[in-house]
Amino acid sequence: MRVKPLRRLAFLVLASAMFVVAGCTGKKTDDRIVLGFSQIGAESEWRTANTESIKAAAVTSNIDLRFADAQQKQENQIKALRSFIAQKVDVIAFSPVVATGWDTVLMEARDAGIPVILTDRAVTSDPSLYAGFLGSDFIEEGRKAGRWVSEQFKDATADVNIVELQGTVGSAPANDRKKGFEETIAANPHLRIIRSQTGDFTRSKGKEAMEAILKSESRKVHVLYAHNDDMAIGAIQAIEEAGLKPGKDILIVSIDAVKGAFQAMIAGKLNATIECNPLLGPQLMTSVAEVVAGRPIPKRIVVEETMFTMETAKQFIQSRKY
Ligand code: AHR
Repeated sequence: MRVKPLRRLAFLVLASAMFVVAGCTGKKTDDRIVLGFSQIGAESEWRTANTESIKAAAVTSNIDLRFADAQQKQENQIKALRSFIAQKVDVIAFSPVVATGWDTVLMEARDAGIPVILTDRAVTSDPSLYAGFLGSDFIEEGRKAGRWVSEQFKDATADVNIVELQGTVGSAPANDRKKGFEETIAANPHLRIIRSQTGDFTRSKGKEAMEAILKSESRKVHVLYAHNDDMAIGAIQAIEEAGLKPGKDILIVSIDAVKGAFQAMIAGKLNATIECNPLLGPQLMTSVAEVVAGRPIPKRIVVEETMFTMETAKQFIQSRKY
């Protein structure tokens, strides 16, 4: 007769212990550093590699990672940051989906005494509101793409029509990749961006945007510049469905250098990709340990990157880690 309630009690004790271990209460369960990380979402191959790098590096560094996926919404990221503040995590890191609108929540973190590290994307807030920013130089990536296009058409005597597929509106990579590209092609008056549309960094929206452009554009498109590989891969499908040969009828350059881009280059459908390194996990964990130890980290840590063309793709694909 008394066994049942005891069993129930034992079950409740076990269940609540599991709840605590899983970090659901947000309470510290051991002496490890607690890092709250708000990721943008899973919009691209790059993002998946970035998430894996952060999760793996947290395990290797013995850091208790509280991971939240914002599904590409700033409001979700702000909620996640507030939840990390309420949980009193040791450090907050996040990859901001857009560049503006972070001042209030960053001030809340500062007032709670929790250091914040930006990864991948920058914000427009005052730099005193975060400890440091680790990520790529997106303007330089745009310049590299622009230089590649300029080189292909250096002898052009007629206009070269360029279509641009932009990343998420208001995001640092979309703003900066546009800026760097435009800056570089400005030296040749024949290079003209005739259409520029967002594809939100996803394959499906990249395809949709390219379909719409090809349907409504009467001028010949010579070049596609996509702010990431996923949109270029989506656009390649649209170009093929329109009866054109991607990589030949339309030259294509994009950014990230993910495996999918290497496959497209080997298939002769993508001409060049500019590297954007998502493997930020190890460097992030080093920075987290530094700020917890009370040591300053550099305000800006820039990731070293290169570029690849279809001519060299085969040679490099095996050694690519993402
Ligand atoms: O912020 C980095 C960009 O975001 C990558 O280029 C893109 O693929 C991702 O979604």
